[in-house]
Amino acid sequence: MFIGLDLGTSGLKAVLIDANQTITAEATAPLTATRPAPGWSEQAPADWLEAADQVMQALGAQMSLADVRGIGLSGHMHGATLLDASDQVLRPCILWNDTRAAVEAAAMDADPQFRAVTGNIVFPGFTAPKLTWVAKHEPDIFARVTRVLLPKDYLRLWLTGEAVAEMSDAAGTSWLDVGKRDWSDELLAATGLTRAQMPRLVEGSEVSGQVRDELANRWGLPKGVVVAGGGGDNAASAVGVGVVQAGDAFVSLGTSGVLFAASDAYQPDAASAVHSFCHALPDTWHQMGVILAAADALNWFAGVAGQPAAKLTESLGPLQAPGRPLFLPYLGGERTPHNDANIRGAFLHLDHSLDAQAMTRVVLEGVTHAIRDSYDALTGTGTRINRLVAVGGGSKSDYWVQAIATALDLPVDLPVSGDFGGAFGAARLGMMAATGAGAEIATYPEIARSITPDTSLTEAFAQAHARYRDSYVALKGLT
Ligand code: XUL
Repeated sequence: MFIGLDLGTSGLKAVLIDANQTITAEATAPLTATRPAPGWSEQAPADWLEAADQVMQALGAQMSLADVRGIGLSGHMHGATLLDASDQVLRPCILWNDTRAAVEAAAMDADPQFRAVTGNIVFPGFTAPKLTWVAKHEPDIFARVTRVLLPKDYLRLWLTGEAVAEMSDAAGTSWLDVGKRDWSDELLAATGLTRAQMPRLVEGSEVSGQVRDELANRWGLPKGVVVAGGGGDNAASAVGVGVVQAGDAFVSLGTSGVLFAASDAYQPDAASAVHSFCHALPDTWHQMGVILAAADALNWFAGVAGQPAAKLTESLGPLQAPGRPLFLPYLGGERTPHNDANIRGAFLHLDHSLDAQAMTRVVLEGVTHAIRDSYDALTGTGTRINRLVAVGGGSKSDYWVQAIATALDLPVDLPVSGDFGGAFGAARLGMMAATGAGAEIATYPEIARSITPDTSLTEAFAQAHARYRDSYVALKGLT
């Protein structure tokens, strides 16, 4: 048996799988982020440990854990957990969705070595600019920083006593040489840090340590359960949904939208705001476009329309050609392809004929165009997508999935219902570390059906996308 722990922003989830990868128990403990100032987002690392203890106890209450052999970790990326010389937490963790370090990030991004070495824009949410912010605003704390850990790696330190990071999460710090899969001494030095303050690196499927005896006794685990490197939440989810080989991709229609493609080569294109990160498996990378508001845009509109989102999408009928109205889903800025924290959303070309249903189509089309933007950015780097699977709440809308299939001119697979989140992928990584298995156990899910493009509408979607692109440029010029 194997356990996956996924440290999410709103909760820590645990799944227990058997040797056939069937989920036999699961548990979740809630977490909250605090926003002590505009643009800030923080969590207390002690809460993660308490949540992990809770979910492990809950798993143990459902099933005996005496046969567990491996644990894998997944977690929200980019957070800065700062520890002193006795591994005490120095301040609340500054999270991935915290934008206080925007000025510091822009300054680092202007230093060409960051994009050249990491293959990515230095986004305000990434880890390195946060340390520069702390150095500037909390110099006493910065002076005491002995260790910098990503959120799930702090959980690992507590679980195993080992300070270890793995490649997929480390790639989102702005300190990793993503091509070489090693820390960059130059980039660390540019932030006033050294390699001595960073954890040791392993691959996601490798052993990073063993569960401490004290915790094993507390939870009824056998001695010597191995803890795998694991993965950042998107890479771990990709392992869960079997997107581990070049040509495979997933689109996630959650609060945010992610188009994630596995790749056997490192082929960055920072200027397009594509994220080029290591995958959680050796010699594998991935590219990712991130759309900040996907289902979030639909939920926002549903709130304004005063109807549940599911009701708005249930009676849309067959896919229609986009009309003149456009929706730009930049409710909280956009990452890919614009890296624009200031842009905001818009409806354009509204007319009298539009009712709530027609407006819902326009909203779904807008997010679809945003996904097409990410697709263009990814494929522009040479990444190819042969097979695409949809996950997340938005994939329940056939209308939306067919719009995406048509806009990308690619069939989109819908898996039979199941859990393809970070926790399941982490459990698979735990299984790999404990048994020596590799990518072959990260199988593609059983597909319930595949939604094909409506070829009579591909041209109409392409034209609407071109107008959507122009609209961003026009909107950016307005105050
Ligand atoms: C990825 C990203 C998010 C976080 C939180 O770059 O910022 O996916 O990992 O889920």
